[in-house]
Amino acid sequence: INSPNNPTGVVYPSEILAWLGRLVAEKSQEFRRPIYVISDEPYAKIVYDVQVPSVLKYIDNVIVVTSHSKDLALAGERIGYIAASPRIDNVGLLLEALVFCNRTLGFVNAPALMQRLVAGLQREGVDIEEYRQNRDLLYQSLTQLGFEMVRPQGAFYLFPKSPLADDVEFARIALKYNILVVPGAGFGRPGYFRLAYCVDKSVIENSLPAWEALAGELGLIRQC
Ligand SMILES: Cc1ncc(COP(=O)(O)O)c(C=O)c1O
Repeated sequence: INSPNNPTGVVYPSEILAWLGRLVAEKSQEFRRPIYVISDEPYAKIVYDVQVPSVLKYIDNVIVVTSHSKDLALAGERIGYIAASPRIDNVGLLLEALVFCNRTLGFVNAPALMQRLVAGLQREGVDIEEYRQNRDLLYQSLTQLGFEMVRPQGAFYLFPKSPLADDVEFARIALKYNILVVPGAGFGRPGYFRLAYCVDKSVIENSLPAWEALAGELGLIRQC
């Protein structure tokens, strides 16, 4: 699972996590083998109006995976951490296996100096106010133009419905206006498209006339 979610920006509420925790426990019993949930949380600190509930509280067999690419804006550094729930049976063996993979099997391993540095930055994070302003501006502007989407609570993406059933075709038309979107098909969700708003606010402001022209071409703009 991935919450806050890329591409929707949705934060999974505690009731859903509690339900998932119960389901996984039940199915682990039924199949007589542990089923693990991997929670991919690089956006956990990039949230606007809500708190991200801790999966560790609701799911026993959970492994939290994170990256500092987003919360410390260190994209490309390949640095983060994995935390396994102490409630996992034989968790020590799991941790040893993870260390073995990282050290011995040749995965990318962050330099020791960086590892020591980020350990001291665990309570730090990027200034999310800029992201919030971008979210508000883009969400409000696109909604006014007739695009439909959920209002993201976290991360820095919007995932609106494509005005055309063919989202790849929509991405092609948007390109004519210098608007780059990722077709939802790439996320297993055709009929939608993803926008990233981790850009300067001026980029969004300057793009608004192009969005208006695009909405006009597709007949989205509501007639008064
Ligand atoms: C949900 C999610 N998980 C993981 C990553 C990977 O981050 P990185 O490989 O930069 O550490 C990303 C990056 O876009 C992401 O959106």
